[in-house]
Amino acid sequence: MENKTQPNGTARLEIAGKSYELPILKGSTGPDVIDIRKLYAEAGVFTYDPGFTSTASCESTITYIDGDKGVLLYRGYPIEQLAEKSNFLEVCYLLLNGELPTASEFAEFEYHITHHTMLHAQFDRFFAGFRSDAHPMAIMVGAVGALSAFYHDSTNIQDLKQREISAHRMIAKMPTIAARAFKYSAGQPFVYPHNSLGYAENFLRMCFSVPAEEYKINPVLARAMDRIFILHADHEQNASTSTVRLSGSSGANPFACIAAGIACLWGPSHGGANEEALNMLREIGAVDRIPEYVQGVKDKKYRLMGFGHRVYKNYDPRAKVMQQTAHEVLDELGKHDEPLLKVALELEKIALNDEYFISHKLYPNVDFYSGITLNAMGFPSEMFTVLFALARTVGWIAQWKEMIEDPSQKIGRPRQVYTGATERQYVSVDQRG
Ligand code: ACO
Repeated sequence: MENKTQPNGTARLEIAGKSYELPILKGSTGPDVIDIRKLYAEAGVFTYDPGFTSTASCESTITYIDGDKGVLLYRGYPIEQLAEKSNFLEVCYLLLNGELPTASEFAEFEYHITHHTMLHAQFDRFFAGFRSDAHPMAIMVGAVGALSAFYHDSTNIQDLKQREISAHRMIAKMPTIAARAFKYSAGQPFVYPHNSLGYAENFLRMCFSVPAEEYKINPVLARAMDRIFILHADHEQNASTSTVRLSGSSGANPFACIAAGIACLWGPSHGGANEEALNMLREIGAVDRIPEYVQGVKDKKYRLMGFGHRVYKNYDPRAKVMQQTAHEVLDELGKHDEPLLKVALELEKIALNDEYFISHKLYPNVDFYSGITLNAMGFPSEMFTVLFALARTVGWIAQWKEMIEDPSQKIGRPRQVYTGATERQYVSVDQRG
C-alpha cells in the first residue's frame, strides 16, 4: 500500500518557551491529523491519549465512518447500498481488494472460499478437548489460534500467495468452526459444509440441520444472515481491529492475530453488547414498564443497552438496516407480535424524543435490534458474539493485510507516563519493617 496522505499546513506547539512545527496531514475525507512522529526525538515529550480518543494509529483506505452524520462506507460504498444490493462474499472481496469484483473475479473468489470450508479431519478431535458447557467464544479463541498449527503452510507473512491463502482459509473456515462450537455445546453431531450452498445458507445448515431429517433453507432467513454478516464486516480501527493490527505488527502469523481479535471482541463493551441489549428488553418485558425503566437510565442507575456509541453521535446506519431485517425475520417466522419487538420499538420511540437522550446524542446502535433478530432465528445469546466474530474476520484480515503492505508499518509500541516509584535500592527481607 502506498501512503496517500497530503500535507495540509503546519501546527505550532509551544513547550517551555520553545516552538515546534508539526506537519498537518490530510486524508481523502474526515478530520486532518497532526503528524507527531518526530515529536519525541525533537522535543523529548510524549502525547497522552488513553483510549485513543484523539489518535489515528494508521493510514487506511478500507472503511470510513462519519459519526456525526451517521455514515459508514466500505471502500467508499454506503453500508445501506451494500446491505440492500450486494452479498457478503462480494463485500469480502471488496474489503480485501479495494474494488467490487467483475463477474469472473467473483466466480473465482467464490470458488476458492467454497473449496476451503472443510477443516482438517484431526481438527474435530480438538473440539472434544473442551468441556461440553464451554462458552462458544472460548472455543473460537482456542480453535482459531490452532489453525496456525493445522495450516502452517500459509503462515509466511512475507509471501503474498500465502497471505492470500490464509485469508481465504479464514473466511471459509470460520463458519465451519462457529457452527461446530454451536453444535458442540448443543450436544449434536457436526454437520459438514456443502459446496452447493451459498455462504450464509451453508452456515445456517451447519448450525440447524440434524442428520435425522432433511433441512430446508429458508431464503428470508439466509438473506437476513447474509445482511447481518455485511453489517458487521468492518468498522475501521475499533478495539478488536486495533488488537489484530498490534498483534500483526510484530510479524505474528495471521491465524494467531485473528485469535487475538476474537479475544478482544468477547468483552461486553465491544462484541458482547447485543446479548446485553436482548437481556434488557427481556427485563423490561412489557411496553407499560418502559417509562419506569427510562427514568432509571436518566437517574444513571443503569445504561440503555444498544444505545450510544463512541463514534456515532447520530443514528448508527447499521441499526436502520438491522431494524428492517428484524421485521422481515419476525414476519417470516410469524413472530411479528413478539413482545420484545414491541418493547424495542416503543423504547426507541420514547428515547429518541426524550431530552436526556437528545442532549447526550444517544441513538440506537447496531446491537439494539440484532439480538431480537438472532434470537428469533434460533441462536442462543452465547452465539451472538460468535456470529459477530465470523462476520468481522474479513475486516480483520483486510486491515491486517493493509498493515503488512504499508511501507511505514512498524511494530506497535505505545509509550506511557510513568507515575510509579522512582529508582530505589533493594532491601533484604530481614531488614523490611
Ligand atoms: N444509556 C444511558 N446513558 C448513556 C449511554 C447509554 N447507553 N451511553 C452513554 N451514556 C451517557 C453517559 O452516562 C454519559 O453521560 P454524562 O455525560 O451525563 O455523564 C455520556 O452519555 C457519555 O458517555 P460515555 O460513556 O463517556 O460515552 P462513550 O462514547 O465512552 O460510550 C458506549 C460509548 C460504551 C457504547 C456507551 O454509549 C454505552 O455504554 N452504551 C451501551 C452499551 C452498548 O450498546 N454498546 C454497544 C456499542 S456498539 C458495538 O460495539 C458494536
